[in-house]
Amino acid sequence: MHAQAIEVDGLTKRYGDVTAVDDLSFTAEPGRVTGFLGPNGAGKSTTLRILVGLATATEGSATFGGRAYRDIERPAGVIGAHFEGAFHPGRSARDHLRVYAPVVGVEDSRCDEVLAMVGMADAARRRVGGYSLGMRQRLGLATALLGNPRVLVLDESANGLDPAGIKWLRSFLRAFADDGGTVLLSSHLLSEVEQTVDDVVIIAEGRLRHQSSLDELRAMTRPGVTLRSPDAVALAAFARSRFGQAATVEAANRARIAGVTAAEVGAAAFADGLEVHGLSDEGESLEELFLRLTAAAEVAR
Ligand SMILES: Nc1ncnc2c1ncn2[C@@H]1O[C@H](COP(=O)(O)OP(=O)(O)OP(=O)(O)O)[C@@H](O)[C@H]1O
Ligand SMILES: [Mg+2]
Repeated sequence: MHAQAIEVDGLTKRYGDVTAVDDLSFTAEPGRVTGFLGPNGAGKSTTLRILVGLATATEGSATFGGRAYRDIERPAGVIGAHFEGAFHPGRSARDHLRVYAPVVGVEDSRCDEVLAMVGMADAARRRVGGYSLGMRQRLGLATALLGNPRVLVLDESANGLDPAGIKWLRSFLRAFADDGGTVLLSSHLLSEVEQTVDDVVIIAEGRLRHQSSLDELRAMTRPGVTLRSPDAVALAAFARSRFGQAATVEAANRARIAGVTAAEVGAAAFADGLEVHGLSDEGESLEELFLRLTAAAEVAR
Protein backbone atom coordinates (compact mmCIF):
# COMPACT_ATOMS: atom_id res chain seq x y z
CA MET A 1 0.00 0.00 0.00
CA HIS A 2 1.28 3.46 -0.84
CA ALA A 3 2.40 6.06 1.66
CA GLN A 4 -0.21 8.27 3.28
CA ALA A 5 0.40 11.80 4.52
CA ILE A 6 -1.92 13.28 7.11
CA GLU A 7 -3.20 16.68 6.03
CA VAL A 8 -5.13 18.96 8.32
CA ASP A 9 -6.48 22.01 6.52
CA GLY A 10 -8.26 24.96 8.11
CA LEU A 11 -9.69 22.70 10.81
CA THR A 12 -12.03 24.32 13.32
CA LYS A 13 -14.05 22.64 16.06
CA ARG A 14 -16.44 24.56 18.28
CA TYR A 15 -18.29 23.17 21.28
CA GLY A 16 -20.84 25.90 22.00
CA ASP A 17 -18.79 28.92 23.08
CA VAL A 18 -15.55 26.93 23.30
CA THR A 19 -13.36 26.90 20.20
CA ALA A 20 -11.31 23.75 20.81
CA VAL A 21 -9.54 23.88 17.42
CA ASP A 22 -9.17 27.15 15.56
CA ASP A 23 -8.33 27.22 11.82
CA LEU A 24 -5.56 24.64 12.25
CA SER A 25 -3.45 23.47 9.31
CA PHE A 26 -0.47 21.11 9.33
CA THR A 27 0.87 17.97 7.67
CA ALA A 28 2.47 14.78 8.95
CA GLU A 29 4.63 13.06 6.35
CA PRO A 30 5.20 9.35 5.63
CA GLY A 31 8.57 8.09 6.84
CA ARG A 32 8.50 10.55 9.73
CA VAL A 33 7.40 10.49 13.34
CA THR A 34 5.56 13.75 13.98
CA GLY A 35 5.07 15.02 17.52
CA PHE A 36 1.75 16.82 18.01
CA LEU A 37 2.49 19.02 20.98
CA GLY A 38 0.69 21.53 23.14
CA PRO A 39 -0.30 22.20 26.75
CA ASN A 40 -3.41 20.70 28.38
CA GLY A 41 -6.55 21.84 26.60
CA ALA A 42 -4.68 22.95 23.46
CA GLY A 43 -6.95 20.88 21.21
CA LYS A 44 -4.73 17.85 20.50
CA SER A 45 -7.20 15.09 21.36
CA THR A 46 -10.02 16.95 19.61
CA THR A 47 -7.96 17.16 16.41
CA LEU A 48 -7.01 13.47 16.59
CA ARG A 49 -10.61 12.47 17.27
CA ILE A 50 -11.76 14.40 14.21
CA LEU A 51 -8.98 12.74 12.17
CA VAL A 52 -10.34 9.28 12.89
CA GLY A 53 -14.03 10.14 12.65
CA LEU A 54 -14.84 10.14 16.39
CA ALA A 55 -15.88 13.81 16.18
CA THR A 56 -16.97 15.99 13.27
CA ALA A 57 -15.28 19.22 12.23
CA THR A 58 -17.16 22.51 12.39
CA GLU A 59 -15.07 23.72 9.44
CA GLY A 60 -12.08 22.53 7.44
CA SER A 61 -10.82 19.05 6.69
CA ALA A 62 -8.52 16.29 7.91
CA THR A 63 -7.41 13.66 5.39
CA PHE A 64 -5.12 10.67 4.84
CA GLY A 65 -3.52 10.61 1.42
CA GLY A 66 -6.27 12.99 0.31
CA ARG A 67 -9.19 10.96 1.67
CA ALA A 68 -11.30 11.59 4.76
CA TYR A 69 -11.49 8.72 7.27
CA ARG A 70 -15.17 8.10 6.50
CA ASP A 71 -14.39 7.76 2.76
CA ILE A 72 -11.82 5.02 3.31
CA GLU A 73 -13.30 1.59 2.67
CA ARG A 74 -11.54 -0.40 5.39
CA PRO A 75 -10.09 2.38 7.58
CA ALA A 76 -8.51 0.09 10.20
CA GLY A 77 -6.29 -1.29 7.43
CA VAL A 78 -5.01 2.24 6.73
CA ILE A 79 -5.11 4.06 10.06
CA GLY A 80 -4.54 2.67 13.52
CA ALA A 81 -5.47 4.89 16.43
CA HIS A 82 -5.17 4.80 20.18
CA PHE A 83 -6.78 7.06 22.76
CA GLU A 84 -6.37 6.95 26.51
CA GLY A 85 -8.68 4.97 28.77
CA ALA A 86 -10.07 2.62 26.15
CA PHE A 87 -9.75 -0.59 28.20
CA HIS A 88 -12.12 -2.63 30.30
CA PRO A 89 -10.15 -3.42 33.50
CA GLY A 90 -11.64 -6.89 33.88
CA ARG A 91 -10.56 -8.12 30.46
CA SER A 92 -7.23 -9.64 29.53
CA ALA A 93 -5.17 -7.99 26.79
CA ARG A 94 -5.99 -10.86 24.48
CA ASP A 95 -9.73 -10.60 25.10
CA HIS A 96 -9.59 -6.83 24.62
CA LEU A 97 -8.03 -7.32 21.18
CA ARG A 98 -10.45 -10.12 20.29
CA VAL A 99 -13.33 -7.69 20.78
CA TYR A 100 -11.77 -5.40 18.19
CA ALA A 101 -10.62 -8.05 15.70
CA PRO A 102 -13.99 -8.57 13.95
CA VAL A 103 -14.54 -4.78 13.77
CA VAL A 104 -11.13 -4.34 12.19
CA GLY A 105 -11.72 -7.40 10.00
CA VAL A 106 -8.80 -9.61 11.07
CA GLU A 107 -8.50 -13.15 12.40
CA ASP A 108 -8.05 -13.85 16.13
CA SER A 109 -4.52 -15.04 15.40
CA ARG A 110 -3.61 -11.44 14.56
CA CYS A 111 -4.24 -10.55 18.24
CA ASP A 112 -1.34 -12.73 19.35
CA GLU A 113 0.81 -11.33 16.57
CA VAL A 114 0.35 -7.71 17.63
CA LEU A 115 0.85 -8.60 21.31
CA ALA A 116 4.18 -10.17 20.35
CA MET A 117 5.07 -7.07 18.31
CA VAL A 118 4.68 -4.83 21.37
CA GLY A 119 6.48 -7.28 23.68
CA MET A 120 3.33 -8.33 25.57
CA ALA A 121 3.06 -12.03 24.66
CA ASP A 122 3.75 -13.10 28.25
CA ALA A 123 1.10 -10.81 29.75
CA ALA A 124 -1.56 -11.57 27.13
CA ARG A 125 -3.84 -13.51 29.50
CA ARG A 126 -3.53 -11.21 32.53
CA ARG A 127 -6.31 -8.77 33.36
CA VAL A 128 -5.75 -5.24 32.11
CA GLY A 129 -6.82 -3.83 35.52
CA GLY A 130 -3.52 -5.07 36.96
CA TYR A 131 -1.34 -3.55 34.24
CA SER A 132 1.23 -0.86 34.78
CA LEU A 133 0.86 2.34 32.75
CA GLY A 134 3.62 1.20 30.40
CA MET A 135 1.81 -2.09 29.75
CA ARG A 136 -1.41 -0.22 28.99
CA GLN A 137 0.42 1.98 26.51
CA ARG A 138 1.81 -1.12 24.81
CA LEU A 139 -1.66 -2.65 24.64
CA GLY A 140 -2.95 0.61 23.15
CA LEU A 141 -0.32 0.38 20.47
CA ALA A 142 -1.20 -3.29 19.86
CA THR A 143 -4.82 -2.24 19.36
CA ALA A 144 -3.78 0.41 16.84
CA LEU A 145 -1.68 -2.16 14.96
CA LEU A 146 -4.42 -4.79 14.60
CA GLY A 147 -5.40 -3.91 11.03
CA ASN A 148 -1.75 -3.62 9.89
CA PRO A 149 -2.14 0.12 9.16
CA ARG A 150 0.25 2.49 7.37
CA VAL A 151 -0.67 5.41 9.62
CA LEU A 152 -0.61 5.55 13.41
CA VAL A 153 -2.54 8.22 15.31
CA LEU A 154 -1.51 7.97 18.95
CA ASP A 155 -2.88 10.18 21.72
CA GLU A 156 -0.39 10.56 24.59
CA SER A 157 1.12 7.11 24.00
CA ALA A 158 4.42 8.09 25.63
CA ASN A 159 2.66 9.43 28.73
CA GLY A 160 4.05 7.85 31.87
CA LEU A 161 6.59 5.61 30.18
CA ASP A 162 9.84 5.06 32.05
CA PRO A 163 13.15 5.60 30.20
CA ALA A 164 13.23 1.97 29.03
CA GLY A 165 9.65 2.28 27.77
CA ILE A 166 10.45 5.53 25.94
CA LYS A 167 13.46 3.85 24.35
CA TRP A 168 11.34 0.92 23.25
CA LEU A 169 8.61 3.20 21.83
CA ARG A 170 11.23 5.22 19.98
CA SER A 171 12.74 2.18 18.27
CA PHE A 172 9.30 0.75 17.50
CA LEU A 173 7.99 3.95 15.90
CA ARG A 174 11.33 4.53 14.16
CA ALA A 175 11.08 1.13 12.44
CA PHE A 176 7.43 1.79 11.54
CA ALA A 177 8.34 5.15 9.94
CA ASP A 178 11.46 3.79 8.25
CA ASP A 179 9.18 1.27 6.58
CA GLY A 180 7.25 4.19 5.06
CA GLY A 181 4.62 4.57 7.75
CA THR A 182 3.23 7.87 9.06
CA VAL A 183 3.10 8.50 12.80
CA LEU A 184 1.31 11.33 14.58
CA LEU A 185 1.98 11.18 18.33
CA SER A 186 0.49 13.74 20.70
CA SER A 187 2.01 14.84 23.99
CA HIS A 188 1.74 17.76 26.39
CA LEU A 189 5.46 17.38 27.17
CA LEU A 190 8.09 17.94 24.53
CA SER A 191 10.70 16.28 26.77
CA GLU A 192 8.65 13.05 26.77
CA VAL A 193 8.80 12.65 22.99
CA GLU A 194 11.98 14.58 22.21
CA GLN A 195 13.93 11.39 21.51
CA THR A 196 11.10 9.88 19.48
CA VAL A 197 9.98 12.52 16.97
CA ASP A 198 11.50 13.82 13.73
CA ASP A 199 9.07 16.70 13.22
CA VAL A 200 7.02 18.85 15.56
CA VAL A 201 3.63 20.48 15.25
CA ILE A 202 3.09 22.79 18.22
CA ILE A 203 -0.35 24.13 19.06
CA ALA A 204 -1.87 26.24 21.84
CA GLU A 205 -5.42 27.50 22.30
CA GLY A 206 -6.45 25.47 19.26
CA ARG A 207 -4.06 27.31 16.93
CA LEU A 208 -0.83 26.38 15.21
CA ARG A 209 2.18 28.01 16.89
CA HIS A 210 5.00 26.22 15.10
CA GLN A 211 5.75 23.43 12.63
CA SER A 212 9.24 22.26 11.64
CA SER A 213 11.70 19.44 12.04
CA LEU A 214 12.96 18.88 15.59
CA ASP A 215 16.42 19.97 14.42
CA GLU A 216 15.06 23.31 13.20
CA LEU A 217 13.26 23.76 16.51
CA ARG A 218 16.51 23.06 18.40
CA ALA A 219 18.27 25.73 16.35
CA MET A 220 15.70 28.26 17.60
CA THR A 221 16.74 28.00 21.26
CA ARG A 222 18.23 31.30 22.45
CA PRO A 223 21.71 31.51 23.91
CA GLY A 224 22.09 32.65 27.51
CA VAL A 225 24.62 32.99 30.31
CA THR A 226 24.67 32.57 34.08
CA LEU A 227 27.03 34.96 35.83
CA ARG A 228 28.17 34.75 39.46
CA SER A 229 29.91 37.42 41.50
CA PRO A 230 30.56 37.77 45.25
CA ASP A 231 29.63 41.48 45.03
CA ALA A 232 25.82 41.42 44.89
CA VAL A 233 25.43 45.18 44.53
CA ALA A 234 27.97 45.48 41.71
CA LEU A 235 26.51 42.40 39.99
CA ALA A 236 22.99 43.86 39.93
CA ALA A 237 24.25 47.25 38.70
CA PHE A 238 26.39 45.63 36.02
CA ALA A 239 23.56 43.40 34.76
CA ARG A 240 21.12 46.30 34.64
CA SER A 241 23.41 48.83 32.98
CA ARG A 242 24.96 46.44 30.47
CA PHE A 243 22.08 44.12 29.57
CA GLY A 244 18.88 45.84 30.77
CA GLN A 245 15.75 43.74 30.17
CA ALA A 246 17.77 40.72 29.07
CA ALA A 247 19.20 40.33 32.59
CA THR A 248 17.44 38.72 35.56
CA VAL A 249 19.03 38.74 38.99
CA GLU A 250 18.07 35.24 40.19
CA ALA A 251 19.82 35.35 43.56
CA ALA A 252 22.07 37.82 45.39
CA ASN A 253 25.18 36.46 43.74
CA ARG A 254 23.75 35.14 40.50
CA ALA A 255 22.35 36.75 37.36
CA ARG A 256 20.96 35.16 34.21
CA ILE A 257 21.41 37.07 30.95
CA ALA A 258 19.47 36.00 27.88
CA GLY A 259 20.52 36.27 24.24
CA VAL A 260 24.28 36.62 24.78
CA THR A 261 27.35 34.38 24.91
CA ALA A 262 29.75 33.87 27.83
CA ALA A 263 32.48 35.65 25.82
CA GLU A 264 30.38 38.82 25.48
CA VAL A 265 29.49 38.89 29.18
CA GLY A 266 33.07 38.08 30.21
CA ALA A 267 34.47 40.92 28.13
CA ALA A 268 31.95 43.40 29.56
CA ALA A 269 32.63 42.28 33.15
CA PHE A 270 36.38 42.62 32.60
CA ALA A 271 35.93 46.13 31.17
CA ASP A 272 33.73 47.15 34.13
CA GLY A 273 36.06 45.62 36.73
CA LEU A 274 33.39 43.23 38.07
CA GLU A 275 34.79 40.36 40.13
CA VAL A 276 33.51 37.19 38.47
CA HIS A 277 33.38 33.83 40.24
CA GLY A 278 31.44 31.95 37.61
CA LEU A 279 30.39 32.35 34.01
CA SER A 280 28.61 29.57 32.16
CA ASP A 281 26.86 29.17 28.85
CA GLU A 282 23.31 28.15 29.73
CA GLY A 283 21.09 28.73 26.76
CA GLU A 284 17.37 28.27 26.67
CA SER A 285 16.42 24.60 26.93
CA LEU A 286 14.12 22.98 24.38
CA GLU A 287 11.44 22.80 27.08
CA GLU A 288 11.79 26.54 27.79
CA LEU A 289 11.44 27.26 24.08
CA PHE A 290 8.33 25.05 24.01
CA LEU A 291 6.89 27.04 26.94
CA ARG A 292 7.68 30.30 25.16
CA LEU A 293 6.00 29.10 21.95
CA THR A 294 2.89 27.91 23.77
CA ALA A 295 2.58 30.83 26.22
CA ALA A 296 -0.73 32.73 26.25
CA ALA A 297 -1.13 34.70 23.01
CA GLU A 298 -0.97 38.13 24.64
CA VAL A 299 2.47 37.49 26.16
CA ALA A 300 3.99 35.37 23.34
CA ARG A 301 6.88 37.03 21.52
N1 LIG B 1 -16.86 17.05 24.03
C1 LIG B 1 -16.52 18.28 24.41
N2 LIG B 1 -17.42 19.19 24.82
C2 LIG B 1 -17.07 20.43 25.20
N3 LIG B 1 -15.80 20.88 25.21
C3 LIG B 1 -14.83 20.04 24.83
C4 LIG B 1 -15.12 18.69 24.41
N4 LIG B 1 -13.95 18.08 24.08
C5 LIG B 1 -12.98 19.00 24.29
N5 LIG B 1 -13.50 20.16 24.75
C6 LIG B 1 -12.74 21.39 25.05
O1 LIG B 1 -11.88 21.64 23.98
C7 LIG B 1 -10.62 22.12 24.42
C8 LIG B 1 -9.50 21.24 23.87
O2 LIG B 1 -9.56 19.96 24.50
P1 LIG B 1 -8.64 18.74 24.08
O3 LIG B 1 -9.07 17.58 24.90
O4 LIG B 1 -8.66 18.59 22.61
O5 LIG B 1 -7.20 19.25 24.53
P2 LIG B 1 -5.83 18.45 24.62
O6 LIG B 1 -4.83 19.26 23.90
O7 LIG B 1 -6.03 17.04 24.19
O8 LIG B 1 -5.50 18.52 26.18
P3 LIG B 1 -4.81 17.42 27.17
O9 LIG B 1 -3.33 17.65 27.09
O10 LIG B 1 -5.33 17.83 28.52
O11 LIG B 1 -5.23 16.06 26.75
C9 LIG B 1 -10.71 22.19 25.93
O12 LIG B 1 -11.05 23.49 26.30
C10 LIG B 1 -11.80 21.21 26.24
O13 LIG B 1 -12.44 21.55 27.44
MG1 LIG C 1 -5.77 15.20 25.15
